Amino acid sequence: MKILLVCSEALPYCKSGGLADFIFSFSKALKEEGQDVSVILPYYNSIKYKFPETNKEIYDKFGFDMGTHYQGCTTYFYDLNGVKYFFTCTDRFERDGMYGYYDDTERFACFMMAVNTFITRHNDFDVVHCNDWQSAVLPLLLHYNPRHEIKTVLTIHNPAYQGWARRDDVYNFFKLDTNYFDSGYCRLNNCFNYLKTGIMASKKVNTVSKNHANELINDHLGYSGIGAIIDYCKHNDFTGIVNGLDIDVWNPKTDHNLVCNYDVNTYESGKAKNKEAILNKLGLKNDFKGPLVSAITRLSDQKGVDRLMQVFPYLKNYDAKYIVIGTGEKEGDFLYQSLPYKEVYFVKNYDENLAHLLYAASDFFLMPSYFEPCGTSQLISMRYGTIPIVSSVGGLVDTVHDMSTNELATGYVFNNSDPGAFISCFKSAMDFYLSNDPFIKKVITNGMTGDYSWKKSCKEYLELYNSITW
Ligand code: GLC
Repeated sequence: MKILLVCSEALPYCKSGGLADFIFSFSKALKEEGQDVSVILPYYNSIKYKFPETNKEIYDKFGFDMGTHYQGCTTYFYDLNGVKYFFTCTDRFERDGMYGYYDDTERFACFMMAVNTFITRHNDFDVVHCNDWQSAVLPLLLHYNPRHEIKTVLTIHNPAYQGWARRDDVYNFFKLDTNYFDSGYCRLNNCFNYLKTGIMASKKVNTVSKNHANELINDHLGYSGIGAIIDYCKHNDFTGIVNGLDIDVWNPKTDHNLVCNYDVNTYESGKAKNKEAILNKLGLKNDFKGPLVSAITRLSDQKGVDRLMQVFPYLKNYDAKYIVIGTGEKEGDFLYQSLPYKEVYFVKNYDENLAHLLYAASDFFLMPSYFEPCGTSQLISMRYGTIPIVSSVGGLVDTVHDMSTNELATGYVFNNSDPGAFISCFKSAMDFYLSNDPFIKKVITNGMTGDYSWKKSCKEYLELYNSITW
């Protein structure tokens, strides 16, 4: 099958969140299954400068008509280990950042129009797989493709971001009839909504775990009512497929970022050496008997930054240390609140090497998100023998087995709707650690030996593609 993944970010080129990991690891897994895989994304300035090899091969040059003006585009090509990467270069993306500009909806409209033209000119893709609002209108544009039988899939990685524009932008950005708005097809709360448009126009829609698919379809009020639209308009064409992890990159046995590699038989001494190393690196003393607790996250409301700060006063009671790597809109807050606590060490910059080392060095990993369509960090921590403490939402429920499952346990899952549950769960995890209960070994072993690979989910996506008929 010839598959095109359309997205706004992909590792190794650019990343703001989990979507970038998803594209990299999923495309690699599809390739390993023998599929013909391409990825197309905007050519941000940062890619141009940081990855000059992507600037060598011009694949195509074309123009297209957006409603109000004519736009030129150059497409560059780079083969990354058998996955074909295409970069659409338009003036709209000659900026330093990826998102956060006043004209983002217009910028990504330009991207989608470019991809639409690109597809029409090379019309041989069987599946066009879009991701999040930045590519969600493309399936509608493809309704007008001269070759009708292109299978379209939209994956929702984060329903909170939807792409809001105005009625007239239906024509001004996409040159589509404004009747799409007037009829309600792409209208939500009297705005032109990209995510809704994608839900309406794609053949299949999915999100990145079964539990989040359930949450979404049953929640008609949250996320501006996007769940109700899925429920009413796409009920039978909506599923959840849990994300896999790149188990080659995230393998404590071979990870070059660690000072000592380890596996399920040697994790005790291995983790101790990595703990020593990270403490040294950060100038901290290894003078505590309690656990090393960590979090690596975007510091935003979604990720439960308030809960991440709630633990500060309790650390001392358990002689614990807490290392957090994070950036985001709440980083100032986090830093300020942490100042009185010498048990807390905050790294205000994402550092890939340090992140790997921290996963390996820690005893517990906190992920108290308020919503989490899938999540990656909980998978990494289990694989690295670090017990996750997670909220009972989204993919966290599908991937972490709570202590109450006894022999199957891989971590702590606390009730997200109970305001006191996080702290009491945190306390029992700390007590468990200090009690030296031999069951801890079982929990760690279960976590380390779980299958987090893409194998099963990759198959489910291929089945989803194959299930599309006309
Ligand atoms: C988004 C979601 C996260 C998910 C990722 C990849 O970042 O918030 O839960 O793991 O997309 O699908």
